Amino acid sequence: MSTGDKPVRLGILLSGRGSNFLAIAESIRTGRLPGVQVAVVISNVAESAGLAKAREMGLASALFVSRGRKRAEHDADVTACLKAHGVDLVCLAGYMRLLSPEFVAEFRNRILNIHPSLLPAFPGLDAQEQAFHYGVKITGCTVHFVDEHLDHGVIVVQRAIPVLESDDAHSLAGRILVEEHVAYTEAIARVVSGEYEIQGRRYVKRTVLAQD
Ligand code: GRF
Repeated sequence: MSTGDKPVRLGILLSGRGSNFLAIAESIRTGRLPGVQVAVVISNVAESAGLAKAREMGLASALFVSRGRKRAEHDADVTACLKAHGVDLVCLAGYMRLLSPEFVAEFRNRILNIHPSLLPAFPGLDAQEQAFHYGVKITGCTVHFVDEHLDHGVIVVQRAIPVLESDDAHSLAGRILVEEHVAYTEAIARVVSGEYEIQGRRYVKRTVLAQD
């Protein structure tokens, strides 16, 4: 992703708690994402704690309530807001709303999402519970580019953890969340570096390509 010497501006979309957003903000604050800044935090849910936190932090923020609105209309408002804030990279951080094809096309290969399973296993809601009840021994999280299909785009980063004998679905979700916070920063750093190519479904680091 090339923005020349200018900082890379993130647009964070969230619906709830916002712990992934806070982890990204903390990575920026502590210098782990040099040249990156949060341009705007957008929520589709008025009560989201993540939105409240963004306001407290003095970040630019916006609320577009999505309930009862047509997807394309809502997404057009969000798109206009992201553009008005000069957003380069959109980060979905617990954004509980499917995106319209128009939105995906507008920001193609510039939207990241985080999902609490090792995709393509357990897409959709309650992925941690799905994995726990399925009985997998290893699970984790995935940061991927967003395409038109749910939890489907090119994978940028995955982090795996074992499912412990002592786990229940709740403790497992908590341990996955710790990995999510690491994975999202790693994925943003990778994308911002621009040192990659997308080959079919594969994200390939350019350093690896150079060795070929
Ligand atoms: C995370 O588990 C993320 O993987 C999923 O939604 C949850 C959001 O959590 N997409 P938070 O709002 O970032 O705390």
